[in-house]
Amino acid sequence: MKHTDIIRKLNLEQKCALLSGETVFTTRALPGKGIPSITLSDGPNGVRKQAGAADHLGLNPSVPATCFPTSSATACSWDEALGEAVGEAMGEEAAAQEVAVLLGPGLNIQRSPLCGRDFEYFSEDPILAGKMAAAYVRGIQKKGIAACPKHFAVNSQELRRMASDSVVDERTLRELYLTGFEIVVKEARPKTIMTSYNLINGTYANENAHLLQDILRKDWGFDGAVVTDWGGSNDHALGVKNGSTLEMPCPGGDSIRELMKAVKDGKVTEADLDARLDELLELVLSTHAAVEKAPRTFDAAAHHALARRAAAESIVLLKNEDGILPLKAGEKLAVIGDFAQTPRYQGAGSSAVNALQVDALLDCIKADDSGIAFVGYASGFDRQGAADPKKQEEAVSLAKQADTVLLCLGLDELRESEGLDRADMALAENQQQLLDAVAAVNPNVVVLLSAGAPVETPWVGRCKALVYGALGGQAGAGAAADILTGKLCPCGKLSQTWAKAYDDTPAKANFGGEGRNVEYREGLYVGYRYYQTAGVKPAFPFGYGLSYTTFEYSGLKADETGVSLTVTNTGSAAGAEIVQLYVAKPDAKVFRPEQELKGFAKVSLAPGESKTVAIALDDKAFRYWNVKTNAWEVEGGSYQLRVGASSVDIRLTADITVKGTNAPDPYAGLSLTHYVSGQITYVTDAEFEALLGHPIPEDVVRIDRNMTLGEMDHGRSPLGWLAQKVLRSRLDASFAKGKPDLNTVFQYNMPLRALAKMTNGMVSMGMVDGLVWELKGFWLVGIVRVIYEFIKNAILNAQLKKRLRQG
Ligand code: BGC
Repeated sequence: MKHTDIIRKLNLEQKCALLSGETVFTTRALPGKGIPSITLSDGPNGVRKQAGAADHLGLNPSVPATCFPTSSATACSWDEALGEAVGEAMGEEAAAQEVAVLLGPGLNIQRSPLCGRDFEYFSEDPILAGKMAAAYVRGIQKKGIAACPKHFAVNSQELRRMASDSVVDERTLRELYLTGFEIVVKEARPKTIMTSYNLINGTYANENAHLLQDILRKDWGFDGAVVTDWGGSNDHALGVKNGSTLEMPCPGGDSIRELMKAVKDGKVTEADLDARLDELLELVLSTHAAVEKAPRTFDAAAHHALARRAAAESIVLLKNEDGILPLKAGEKLAVIGDFAQTPRYQGAGSSAVNALQVDALLDCIKADDSGIAFVGYASGFDRQGAADPKKQEEAVSLAKQADTVLLCLGLDELRESEGLDRADMALAENQQQLLDAVAAVNPNVVVLLSAGAPVETPWVGRCKALVYGALGGQAGAGAAADILTGKLCPCGKLSQTWAKAYDDTPAKANFGGEGRNVEYREGLYVGYRYYQTAGVKPAFPFGYGLSYTTFEYSGLKADETGVSLTVTNTGSAAGAEIVQLYVAKPDAKVFRPEQELKGFAKVSLAPGESKTVAIALDDKAFRYWNVKTNAWEVEGGSYQLRVGASSVDIRLTADITVKGTNAPDPYAGLSLTHYVSGQITYVTDAEFEALLGHPIPEDVVRIDRNMTLGEMDHGRSPLGWLAQKVLRSRLDASFAKGKPDLNTVFQYNMPLRALAKMTNGMVSMGMVDGLVWELKGFWLVGIVRVIYEFIKNAILNAQLKKRLRQG
């Protein structure tokens, strides 16, 4: 331990008090003991420091900061150096705003395109997600503040996120949902990590000994502070015992007393408590010193330029028929679509940044000096999806006057948000109709799409070019203009597969459904791992992206440590190519996806130029998790190394032999037909249970501290029914208006215990227990207990506050 000298001077109450936040975004100070308070702030694509009234969903404005492209965008750059630069800039801004812990990056696996937070995450692939996240963390921590990768783990849907139980087999857990975190922890050494709200196989992530002790701390050697998600602590004492350090936001005195009691009762040892304190003190003292040293200003113009570069590197050209792009000098261009004037550049929720400045595409096109003749702008559609024939007519008549139409379509602000999954994968009907109408009068349509996650593109035949601008941050418009006009050559490649239709996606039957259990039935077959193994053709595959130039691959040399090859720019534009390395084992005995990404490299080339590209293979290249030996094993024999320009555009292959570890077949004697074939939409209960190694857990609503407010109608209290009804109707009304109220969504899906965890000490667990009695039907006793506990809590809190102030 590093801080025994301080820890020795603290009494039990002070120790316990330090392990939870004092306000929504700050830790507790004990000035008398030389312990300062530090600030933690979101988020993954820019700093969101709420100076005034803090609310954890980002509803109140924060201090202006640079809004970088979201992670789902920058992942399409496959550029670790860029990720590190973005991380460094965010770290610098955070330190300048006296933020010691930046709450990001988020690197949950994009399991379904409908997850409301896909925009905050990097990829459906753990290697790409892990490498990009590690780059961000290295950048953020360069000057001494802390990054906080999140949400650890298996938190791939928003519905009931504080109460859902991710039911997942150990191999899938390790290979898919944890490998990215493993890469971040081992390669970038984040000072903190944030646990997720959900349970994993029946135990909350934040108190999950398997996750936090066996894997995070022992296997991966993490020695930093584990931070709960906001209100994500269930039993703080159990969390502390199992490796969770800091409970956020500000649960108040009751949580401190509960922890003290647990120590006194022997549920948590003082050694565990001290270990957590040591982690906390290291975090607080080291980052506080870094923040103190940091300048209070930063170069906003340079960060804007970096945001623009990041956006440009991340734009993916999905279609370019007849070489319609880049736009040509002298060409008459009509700009249509609301997003051209009012850009959609980031997602909603806790990651929303109060951007320093926001560029609009319309202005960038008007200011462009490449000789394009701008003929006018029409908004074309109602952003929230209402039919607006007048706007459409205006757009159509403008389209008639132009050689080419730049049509800016996308998902509106409400469709991609923390706390809420998307209802479907479609582009709004009115936007599709506009495209039809415009294409009918002018076939030269270039669609620029603003969205943080894939959309269905049945309309793609009606445009000649499709440019995925993603959510490009505050400077995304300038970047898009540079790509469209050919000042820059597009080089981004998809980090998530675009299925032809939502119905084709592997998790559809087990995503966002009724009940608390979220069955990760598809196992390893997420994203391209599924589409390729099952032979389902997507609209745009993983790793796909076009360029204004062409590249040739040659001279592959390969062994089990990696590959090298020559890439030549055979076209006439300077450009960059992202070379991907997939590993396949066609004769595998232990089932596995058709192929898996194991490395990648990005290379910039002038026309005619050739460069040697080397991609190393590491310990993750051939391993699989064996549930029998409970260890990483390697199946020996021949492997195919596939080098490609996308997951389906394999240019060179090499067969190599790899020495195995001779482990027993983990699935011997089990019938796992659909896992072997990859046809996982047909997996039976028996197969899933065989994969899990235990029966599928029962899914019941219990009347206890973890019942959600939205589940109170399952109780026996008229008061509970009424409260549930009120919440439900508020929710429905906001949905009906097309403006889901995120706070109500949050409350509706919030467990009762979060009342005690998120009310700054006003509510105690005793009061929650009184409420539970009430809901169980002990109406009078329940109410009396709530009142009694309220008074007790208020008195104890006041006494505690006084003692801590003196301390
Ligand atoms: C989100 C986290 C975020 C935290 C603090 C939570 O609701 O899940 O990602 O960091 O709030 O704003």
